[in-house]
Amino acid sequence: MRELPLAWWIAGVSAVLMLSRALRARLLLSRAKHRSLQGHPRLAKRLAGVLPFYELDGDRFFSCDGAPEAVVARRRSGFARLGRHFEERSPTTLSYHRLSSSVSDLRFTNAYRVPFQYRTYVARHLRVDPVMQASSGVRLQDLDNAWSYDLSGSYGVNLFGYDFYKACIDAGIARVRDLGPVLGPYHPVIEDNVRRLKEISGLDEVSFHMSGTEAVMQAVRLARYHTKRSHVVRFAGAYHGWWDDVQPGPGSPVTANATYTLKEMDDHTLRVLDTRRDIACVLVNPIQSLHPNGSAPTDGVLVASGRVAQFDRHAYTAWLRALREVCTRRSIVLIFDEIFVGFRIARGGAQEYFGVRADMVTYGKTVGGGLPVGVVCGRGDLMKRYRDDRPSDICFARGTFNSHPYVMGAMHEFFRRFDAPAIRATYERLDEVWEARARLLNQRLAHEQLPICVEHLASIWTVIYTTPSRYNWMFQYYLRAQGLALSWIGTGRLIFSHNFTDGDLAAVFDRFIAAARAMRDDGWWWEAPGTTDRTVAWQIVRELAGAGVSRWRTPRVHAASSETMGSNSSPLSRYSGDFP
Ligand SMILES: Cc1ncc(COP(=O)(O)O)c(C=O)c1O
Repeated sequence: MRELPLAWWIAGVSAVLMLSRALRARLLLSRAKHRSLQGHPRLAKRLAGVLPFYELDGDRFFSCDGAPEAVVARRRSGFARLGRHFEERSPTTLSYHRLSSSVSDLRFTNAYRVPFQYRTYVARHLRVDPVMQASSGVRLQDLDNAWSYDLSGSYGVNLFGYDFYKACIDAGIARVRDLGPVLGPYHPVIEDNVRRLKEISGLDEVSFHMSGTEAVMQAVRLARYHTKRSHVVRFAGAYHGWWDDVQPGPGSPVTANATYTLKEMDDHTLRVLDTRRDIACVLVNPIQSLHPNGSAPTDGVLVASGRVAQFDRHAYTAWLRALREVCTRRSIVLIFDEIFVGFRIARGGAQEYFGVRADMVTYGKTVGGGLPVGVVCGRGDLMKRYRDDRPSDICFARGTFNSHPYVMGAMHEFFRRFDAPAIRATYERLDEVWEARARLLNQRLAHEQLPICVEHLASIWTVIYTTPSRYNWMFQYYLRAQGLALSWIGTGRLIFSHNFTDGDLAAVFDRFIAAARAMRDDGWWWEAPGTTDRTVAWQIVRELAGAGVSRWRTPRVHAASSETMGSNSSPLSRYSGDFP
């Protein structure tokens, strides 16, 4: 037998080595993926595309868990009572639902307030306020003059109370009125905003954008430009706006080919960061410390009681420190996306709260003083959009409305008021205060043996259901009936502004307890012996399978009614975001 030439041997050994290195890298990547669908966005997207729509109407709406007739009757009458209550309390306000055939945002949020199986029946009978006419203190007023305590927090914008932002907008506009809506040259008020943002972020440069999504887009783009690497790492479940690269699963029609979705608070992830050479940046959304690797807890996917949340500051701090170390070692840009939690958990934001510095930080929401904004703060070398030695190699980012004088004016007023003693005082013992408030509500709920409790990160709360039930999503309507306004996310995110006094909260808690009592008395938390979250999940799987079979058997006549939104509505086609 002829011997192979040496060159062949070398080529063969090199190929084997390369292959084994690639396999090892792939294996590491797989181990750094969270086991849930949140950790596998592509798979989730594929499943979302095939899972069939079905609905529970009429009798099945009330008895899909096998409840006996007496319980079903209580549910029916409770449901009818709620419907009547909303119609009688706010007829003019509810008439604005006519907008949902023309305003696509409203059509979407109406459809995704509750799990899709119930949506048609709910939309027909339980409608929630699509419009409001006034805000004052911690309350909102609808067109029929009904006041509600606002637990929606305007998606996190409302940190200090609506009156604070009204004042920022009025004073801000007055300050820049002479220049008006001139774009291109800045109003000089921008200088002070930049100074404050640099101070708070501890970073060198600032850029202004029109939304949080755009700010994140720009931070990632700059990280790719400067590192000359392709991939962005985001963590399972984390929301960073609705841009394709940070929303690789259901929700976006395109495939994100340069995004790794990894497990948060996990050593395998650190190993991936430590070994791969294609990672430009890591995005951290600190709200995930409340529910690591879980998506925003919307009621639209609350098909059982699987919502989990628990904030562990110590563990999350340790995680961020480890992340910081590996990013520094590997020259990966660490980006804190503080658009939501920014000024909420500490005056210096998440960097101060967790004691970890990022290379770039994005802010938004509240810092616009009530007007729309996105901000990127970063190290000078990372923020530069061109290379001195390659004049055509630029990282372009401009926007017509960036640094709009009115927004800069409102932001300026935000920062002025941010320093006022009364606002400073809201940060004193912030954790202690909100911890005590959450504990108080939990004690009252436990005392009444109601099957719910709350978990929280400061003033961001989430309702946890302790009974396996297919109807937990109904609780949002009982809360609304009690005059507690929620965002379309429902009970997954209660966002308190920091002007809630203990007295306001006492009133909110009374209503909260009354809502839970009514929900219990109306039979929604009835439980068949032996029910667990797993048995509920299997029930749903069986329903889905049945729907799939009947869809396959029945020739398709039409794609979907405008009410039911089509066949890819499923627990998997969940809106994977946070807000708005
Ligand atoms: C952490 C985070 N990043 C980005 C965004 C997107 O911001 P915007 O809605 O202003 O585009 C949000 C919005 O909720 C957010 O919470």
